[in-house]
Amino acid sequence: ASLRSKIGAPSDFAEDAIRYLPDERVFLHREREGFYAISAICTHLGCVVTKDEEGFHCPCHGSVFDDAGNVIAGPAPRTLPWYEVTLSAEGQLVVDRARTVPVGTRLEA
Ligand code: FES
Repeated sequence: ASLRSKIGAPSDFAEDAIRYLPDERVFLHREREGFYAISAICTHLGCVVTKDEEGFHCPCHGSVFDDAGNVIAGPAPRTLPWYEVTLSAEGQLVVDRARTVPVGTRLEA
C-alpha cells in the first residue's frame, strides 16, 4: 500500500483544530501557521495513541507525549514522527508516511 495519501483540500479542515485520520493513523493539525501531521503510532510497541489536553497518551503501557509528540514519560523511546505534508497540483493535501520532517515543520496553505 502507498504511504502517500490525499486527505482533502485545506478548506476541509477547521482552523485551530486537530483531526484523527484513521486510515493514515495520523493526527492532522491545522493552525494559523500551517498544517502538520503527527504519527499516532506509539514508538514503544505500536499502539495507537489518543489525544488529550497535554498532548498524546498511549493506552498500552502509559507513555505520555507532549503536543509536539516529544516523550514526557516512557516506555516510549522516541518522539512521535512528523510526516511530510504537501499540496498536490490539484490542491489536495498529501501526507507521506514514508517521509519524516523535523518537529515543527509546517505547510503553509
Ligand atoms: Fe505505547 Fe507501549 S505501545 S507505551
